[in-house]
Amino acid sequence: MGLRYGGDYNPEQWAEEVWADDIRLMKEAGVNFVTVGVFSWALLEPADGVFEFGWLDRVLDLLHSAGIRVDLATATASPPPWLTTAHPEMLPEDELGITRWPGSRQQYSPTSPAYREHAARLVRRMAERYGSHPALDMWHINNEYGCHTNLDYSDNAAVAFRVWLSNRYGSIEALNAAWGTIFWSQRYSSFEEILPPRIAPNFRNPTQLLDFHRFSSNALLECFLLEKAIVREYSPDIPVTTNFIGAFKPVDYWSWAPHLDVISDDNYADPLDPDSPMKAAFSRDLMRSLGGGKPWLLMEQATSHVQWRPTNGRKATGEMQALSLQAVARGADGINFFQWRQSTSGAEKFHSSMVPHSGTDTRIWRSVVELGSQLAALSSVQGAAVPARVALVLDWESWWAIEAGAMPQTLDYLATLETWYKALYELNVPVDFVHPSADLSAYEVVFAPQLYLLPDEIGSRLASYVDGGGTLVLTYFSGIADENDHAHLGGYLGALREVVGVRIEEFAPLPLDNTPHSEVHVSGDRFGDFTGTIWSEFVTAVTAETLAKFSGGDLDGLPAVTKNSFGHGAAWYVATQPEPAAVAAIVDTVLASVGVRPEFAGAGLEAVRRGDALFLINHRSSPAVTTISGTDLLTGRTHAGFTLQPHGVAVVDLAPQAQTTHPSPARDRKVESEVH
Ligand code: GAL
Repeated sequence: MGLRYGGDYNPEQWAEEVWADDIRLMKEAGVNFVTVGVFSWALLEPADGVFEFGWLDRVLDLLHSAGIRVDLATATASPPPWLTTAHPEMLPEDELGITRWPGSRQQYSPTSPAYREHAARLVRRMAERYGSHPALDMWHINNEYGCHTNLDYSDNAAVAFRVWLSNRYGSIEALNAAWGTIFWSQRYSSFEEILPPRIAPNFRNPTQLLDFHRFSSNALLECFLLEKAIVREYSPDIPVTTNFIGAFKPVDYWSWAPHLDVISDDNYADPLDPDSPMKAAFSRDLMRSLGGGKPWLLMEQATSHVQWRPTNGRKATGEMQALSLQAVARGADGINFFQWRQSTSGAEKFHSSMVPHSGTDTRIWRSVVELGSQLAALSSVQGAAVPARVALVLDWESWWAIEAGAMPQTLDYLATLETWYKALYELNVPVDFVHPSADLSAYEVVFAPQLYLLPDEIGSRLASYVDGGGTLVLTYFSGIADENDHAHLGGYLGALREVVGVRIEEFAPLPLDNTPHSEVHVSGDRFGDFTGTIWSEFVTAVTAETLAKFSGGDLDGLPAVTKNSFGHGAAWYVATQPEPAAVAAIVDTVLASVGVRPEFAGAGLEAVRRGDALFLINHRSSPAVTTISGTDLLTGRTHAGFTLQPHGVAVVDLAPQAQTTHPSPARDRKVESEVH
């Protein structure tokens, strides 16, 4: 069916006369896929055990007759008022014990037996009825698990947390050892005494917090698996997905991804954030990586503005298409929106949609139609891979631990990852994300910023990677603790100390107040002089070569950037947060050391190769000129050098037959852009 194109379709918000118009417009825009039913529990089951499927039957039949495939949602993301009234104990509670009341959505405790039982019953009835409907293309389980309700501290959670802990540790003694409860008189005599880490007089036990994150991510996964098992019974061959939300802290998508047939993502790039193309690319690469390189779906995005930021900037003309094609470039086989027709009531009536309040004689509708035809022209990229030789470690457990408080510094793990990702993004070097225990043999270089938790087993795997010829780049606050968040003694870095060839003696974090004290100076021939922020530390180079040194103050002359040869590979260590230009210089030097050069080096243009297609994307508001030649798959036209308008995109055909047909192919592969 080509690339999937469509969005969330909520026909229940409209009179049935409107539906025929919906279909007509969907055909005009090239829509071939819609998500139906996401928030329709109250309509599908208006009273306990009473089901009304007539309207959904008519919607599915109508879509089928128009040849539009359906991603059918299981509708369990917003339990109806009759259910929460009958079972008020199913409502979630925050760490203060405050209830999250009905009146919005996601008003359920993921571990509530009443919620799970009623959700399972609804899903079974839906699967029985629609499991072999000819319009059914995919099952869409729930919606954005954990988006609003992720850490639930209710009594449901207390009961389930105890079960989870007793399965993990086997005995209360093992839990006491893992949690270090000898500290502050926290020793437990039985699992019955354990509570979720509700608000307490002072810092809560860090391992309890870490386990609560692990447990909470898993509790949501259990909900997903419960529903998935039911739909599988009725439609074993229909793929199952649930929509992820990029790098979303509460849910460890590495543990979820193997259970999804198709990875899908919701991405709401902020048009007012100059870094939004980079941040969107980050999410796209993460989604591709979660699926092990398989194509994924952009399940939701906005045609223009959202309604949930304090100020909701609009997308510039062309920006929506540029971001959509960026997703295709980075592995998406479908582009979808929230939502098809803009609501007239409710909390999302000011959220942009495919059919806006103002109708179809609008900038937004024209952009929707244009994107439909662009996607139709790109069917040849469907299924193609985006190969990468560089990986970036994203470790949810380190993220949880680092940001749990009682740490040497207030760190923002995601922001740190973005600083390293951004340098790679700007060089147009493709990046995969990896779990710290992943098989790294395909990668020449692995960046692992702030890999705080380093269990011995993972440390040894990373050591073998370097020993075997890999290049590992670690930053400060890596290898500090084991899987129970107990510190590695003797200079930190655990099983990687010899590999990195340094000892960390003492941390020296910097004030975060933008005063002169918040910076540390670094000098080094390799990268020039630069400033560091956030962190510095007393490092001793044992076997490592010092490439840049702290200068001034107590740290004067101590290593700030080191490189250690180990086995057939090398480990680099960066002891501060370098300013962006220095991050870029370090990344470039590391890549050069192993011969990874940007295939399409570019001055500000995003260039991504997917299969035989080279996507050139100009995210800026001024035109750009390149020396790349070839045929544009979007237009069928051949260019000797592409000029890209603001937010313009070209998809250059690099297939061998295209190269012989056209006299001036993308020969020198340089995106030398000039901005006018
Ligand atoms: C998503 C959600 C949609 C809609 C959208 C608005 O988080 O899945 O239902 O609320 O945000 O941006």
